[in-house]
Amino acid sequence: MSKLLIQGGRALSGEVTVQGAKNSVLPILAATLLSGETVRVENCPRLRDVDAAIRILQSLGCRTMWQGDTLEVDAAELSQCTIPDALMREMRSSAIFFGAVLARCGEVEFSYPGGCELGPRPIDLHLAGLRQLGAEIEETGGTLRCRAKSLCGQTIPLRIASVGATENLMLAACGAEGVTTIVNAAREPEIVDLQNFLNACGGQVSGAGTSTVTVVGQRLLHGCTYRIMPDRIVAATYLCAVMSAGGETFLRGAREEDLAALTAVLREAGCTVRGDAAGIGCICTQRPRAVAPVCTAPYPGFPTDAQAILMAAMLRSRGATVFEENIFTNRYRHVDELVRMGADIRVFDRTAVVTGTPVLHGTAVCSTDLRGGAALCVAGLSAEGETVVSGIEHIERGYADIAADLRCLGAQIVKT
Ligand code: EPZ
Repeated sequence: MSKLLIQGGRALSGEVTVQGAKNSVLPILAATLLSGETVRVENCPRLRDVDAAIRILQSLGCRTMWQGDTLEVDAAELSQCTIPDALMREMRSSAIFFGAVLARCGEVEFSYPGGCELGPRPIDLHLAGLRQLGAEIEETGGTLRCRAKSLCGQTIPLRIASVGATENLMLAACGAEGVTTIVNAAREPEIVDLQNFLNACGGQVSGAGTSTVTVVGQRLLHGCTYRIMPDRIVAATYLCAVMSAGGETFLRGAREEDLAALTAVLREAGCTVRGDAAGIGCICTQRPRAVAPVCTAPYPGFPTDAQAILMAAMLRSRGATVFEENIFTNRYRHVDELVRMGADIRVFDRTAVVTGTPVLHGTAVCSTDLRGGAALCVAGLSAEGETVVSGIEHIERGYADIAADLRCLGAQIVKT
């Protein structure tokens, strides 16, 4: 199996262009099912999760074609409305597809997506919302069959501001008669990107980015060409890499408005961060200072996906920082691997206390999940000696080429 070899202990310097956003392209690929014409998705990152999404689209009868970093999808003729079990299990976020299939075909069959490294990933909010739109859902032995002679627009309050449920219900609502209002909708930038995509295809969606999203349903959407937003968590990763190793960087295409909660922490830790229309610059010339408690929350709060990454950058800080993971129940699996490198981290349920140590030691570590694996790379950049990261298939789910990107920033990192 491939590994990443990182020679740490040297400051970074360089520029890199930030890839398209995984968490935007996945729902947008699901949304292509709502169009009867060809859609061109530009700035589409080549990721394991995108490959899985393409296999789901192809299994439903779509034709897909790569042209450089543009993925062309033709969903004019769908051949079936069952999402294969193996594909549902391969990628947690495959749940995002069933709302669009139901809207397009009037029925959809799928199995419960598998749990994942972060803890249980229920879909009760997705299913409750579809029922409110008029879907009849039967479950037998883990397989769910949804049918709806017609979907009818409703006001759907969400118990939790779930990203996936908001996106799934936006897509289902596109196929409903009348107006659907999602209340307590998630406000992530990726949801705004999805709205912009749907409207580029002739949809009538508004309110994304606020807690109330409104969709005027209609039949098939038309085609469009759409450019995916930059990946804010990949940008967060590289900003934290510079804070971890020291140095300076410029992330071309990154949007500071997507990352305000993180950049505020970087500034509090002593980094100089400047965002403009071209991207985000970051300079860190000293060991980070400890910061006030970092509590993950739905956007615009501190992103759960950046929790492990920031933690890795704080391991050699001056003082102690408290982290509180409020979104997922099992998102500290990277801690044991960081402790193997000499980190001082104590975990109590949802709380982790990171006490900075002057030195980290490179060693062999194993990725536990996507962002936990990226965190190991961030820690390896500031460790003395060589860090060997295995399990990098987790990292490749969300990073097109983390080694090449970090080499652009001056890191000594190679994939074996
Ligand atoms: C999305 O996952 C992202 N994935 C995750 O990124 C991200 O961590 C998460 O949102 C939170 O921001 C994609 O966009 C593909 P949720 P999602 O529904 O939609 C509970 C990464 O690293 N919940 O907002 O699955 C759930 O258990 C990934 O790129 C229910 O209880 O997250 C969790 O505790 C990891 N019932 C909370 O809501 C439901 O029906 C937030 O989950 C749905 C969710």
